[in-house]
Amino acid sequence: MLKPDLNEAKKRTKDKALVYTDKYQITDELKKLGINKKYFIRTYGCQMNEHDTENIKAILEDMSFTETSKIEDADLILLNTCAIRENVHYKVFGFLGQLKSLKQQKPHVIIGLCGCMAQEEVVIEEILKKYSWLDIVFGTHNIHNLPNILERALAKKELEIEVFSNEGDIYENIPAKRESKYKAWVNIMYGCDKFCTYCIVPYTRGKQRSRLPEYIINEVKELVKEGYLEVTLLGQNVNAYGKDLDINYNMANLLEDVAKTGIKIVRFLTSHPWDFTDDMIEVIKNNSNIMPHIHLPLQSGSDKILKLMGRRYTKEDYIKLYNKLKENIPNCAITTDIIVGFPNETEEDFNETLDVVNKCQFDSAFTFIFSPRVGTPAAKMKDNVDIETKEKRLQQLNELINYYALEANKKYLNKTVTVLIEGFSEKKDGLLFGYTDTMKLVNVKGEEKYIGKIVDVKITETKTWSLDGKIC
Ligand code: SAH
Ligand code: SF4
Ligand code: F3S
Repeated sequence: MLKPDLNEAKKRTKDKALVYTDKYQITDELKKLGINKKYFIRTYGCQMNEHDTENIKAILEDMSFTETSKIEDADLILLNTCAIRENVHYKVFGFLGQLKSLKQQKPHVIIGLCGCMAQEEVVIEEILKKYSWLDIVFGTHNIHNLPNILERALAKKELEIEVFSNEGDIYENIPAKRESKYKAWVNIMYGCDKFCTYCIVPYTRGKQRSRLPEYIINEVKELVKEGYLEVTLLGQNVNAYGKDLDINYNMANLLEDVAKTGIKIVRFLTSHPWDFTDDMIEVIKNNSNIMPHIHLPLQSGSDKILKLMGRRYTKEDYIKLYNKLKENIPNCAITTDIIVGFPNETEEDFNETLDVVNKCQFDSAFTFIFSPRVGTPAAKMKDNVDIETKEKRLQQLNELINYYALEANKKYLNKTVTVLIEGFSEKKDGLLFGYTDTMKLVNVKGEEKYIGKIVDVKITETKTWSLDGKIC
């Protein structure tokens, strides 16, 4: 049993990340382990976790498991979890509670938990105390070893935990079963070294480590060959790409090289305001296949709170960068993340946040109430903002965000936009959906033949969170 260790997870040494190309290996015997068995996987959290799920699926299919969307048919049930806020914690444990009776009825079913929650000491303690009927728990650094973890669990028929809390290395050549045939997530870096005081990611994902450019470019070239039209370059902090490498190569260089592969649509997530360079702006401006959408988390508009959060920029820095982006990148859409109710946030501090929203008029935003995460500095701060105030602030902020989101969308009325049609919308019967270059959801009427095509759409109606249109 290898349990997570918060003190180890906090450590940062000067050691370079090691790149392994041969760590994922699977014996002929393990390739047969899943014959006639089905797996069901549920994913929580960010795009990085979604991409990890794509890796996990491919590994399981290498072992001959097949996927099922019906949990009652599954021989293996996996929850790929997120630790960013408390709400997922409760959802996951609620779900595990429900699975207990299924496990009693069908003891052969393997139930597992992985992802960022697996990296939390408190989660493992709770599992050992109340959910020891689980079969496997593995961490974000252990995905490549899943075949062996599964084999061990099956052999000894008791809970198998394998969670490394090291700073993390890079495992290349892990297969992926991608969700879409047209757009793909591509990790360009892992982990984070920013240590914002509220955030658990540096502990659950390890140190910032950039993939070598040649691996990224080759992956994108392969995707182009396979017919993919869009890639989203993923990292907690993509602007800092390359800073941990020995070579003189940064995010601007990478964006340019990815654009040159000929992939039609290049997106990237997430940009920390701290590391946004003028070179990046130039590259985005000069390459028509790099989309003019920047997700630029603000978190707070108050300098006092930003300092307490450890964000290392001021309200003024943020607004300056925002204006520079808007001036230099034509039709650029900017979206953001905001936390309300951080410890010590006064009404005045909150008004500073509203002031930035009024000045920047974001295209849209994800807004959250501060959630204390065990092990982070902010969780130890005395939280003097009561929950009613937090909820009131969230509501007030959301109203303003929604207002500007609708205003931004109204500008699209009667305009023609280019959209990669991804498929039929799950929520809207019979409608196709896709996104504009600025990442606005578009719903259109149309037949299956349009799926996987980049089409021109005339916008006929604008709403707060989406646009309706007609294929031209
Ligand atoms: N790396 C990205 C953010 C990743 S987490 C960045 O730095 O911008 C996504 C969002 O979750 C964050 O931007 C933040 O707004 C929110 N978040 C993170 N930790 C949180 C916490 N403890 N409570 C509430 N929201 C949190
Ligand atoms: Fe978390 Fe800050 Fe890193 Fe983003 S930059 S993942 S908020 S520590
Ligand atoms: Fe959640 Fe881990 Fe992503 S905490 S947001 S799944 S990096």
